[in-house]
Amino acid sequence: MINVIFLGPPGSGKGTQASLISKKLSIPSISTGDMLRYEVSVKSEIGILANKIMNEGGLVPDNVVIDIIKARISKSDCDNGFILDGFPRNMDQALSLDLNLSKINKNLTAVVQIDVPDEIIIKRISGRFSCKDCGAVYNKFFSNIKELNICDNCKGSNFLVRSDDNIDTVTKRLDIYHKETKVLVEFYEKKHLIYKVDGLKSIDLVTGDIENILISSSKSKILLNI
Ligand code: AP5
Repeated sequence: MINVIFLGPPGSGKGTQASLISKKLSIPSISTGDMLRYEVSVKSEIGILANKIMNEGGLVPDNVVIDIIKARISKSDCDNGFILDGFPRNMDQALSLDLNLSKINKNLTAVVQIDVPDEIIIKRISGRFSCKDCGAVYNKFFSNIKELNICDNCKGSNFLVRSDDNIDTVTKRLDIYHKETKVLVEFYEKKHLIYKVDGLKSIDLVTGDIENILISSSKSKILLNI
């Protein structure tokens, strides 16, 4: 069983890696950012509330994201494990996750911290775009599409730039990461769950590092009967 959190600043590669590792290990990737963007796109009550906050780079209220995650991790496709991308973002969310996991007799097996310095983050976010049809994520500076205007993955030709990928919003998101999210590293270190990964390596190398960590951490937990 692999129940893992991908922790890191905006643009560190959490979503990219969550999607690759999800396919490799056949466990769902659960992104609060993607779920909230869906709510925004269908103009639901949650979406209307979240839209302005997300565009300004703030955090959507804890009770909203906690309820979303509580319902999602209880679904049967999470029975063999899951990847949390973008949750928890602060101590209250982390404590509620512990509580909600214990209610369904589950626990975290690892927290992967993807390390990338702030100056690289800005470039990663300003170069990011994705395929509108299949969601594949690219970067005009680091991992561009191979053929002009054609998605490598689905051959679609419609691309999107996220509305919160601008310098003002990224600066705010980074600030919140340093003030509210980074404390979770210490919180999970005390629980012996943190595994650090160098997010500056190529996408493939980072995937390999994470895969090795997850496989060996789940084996050691089986041996220790945790
Ligand atoms: P969310 O969607 O979670 O955004 P984020 O955490 O800011 O993270 P990003 O999606 O920007 O980055 P990422 O780490 O996934 O990087 P990616 O793989 O795309 O949240 C958006 C908003 O929703 C929040 O601001 C908030 O308002 C709200 N929200 C979400 N969760 C919430 C919560 N729990 N509580 C409250 N509010 C919440 O990579 C970035 C770029 O770099 C891409 O172009 C990629 O191709 C490239 N790249 C990736 N890896 C590499 C590499 N190794 N080398 C070179 N380039 C790379």
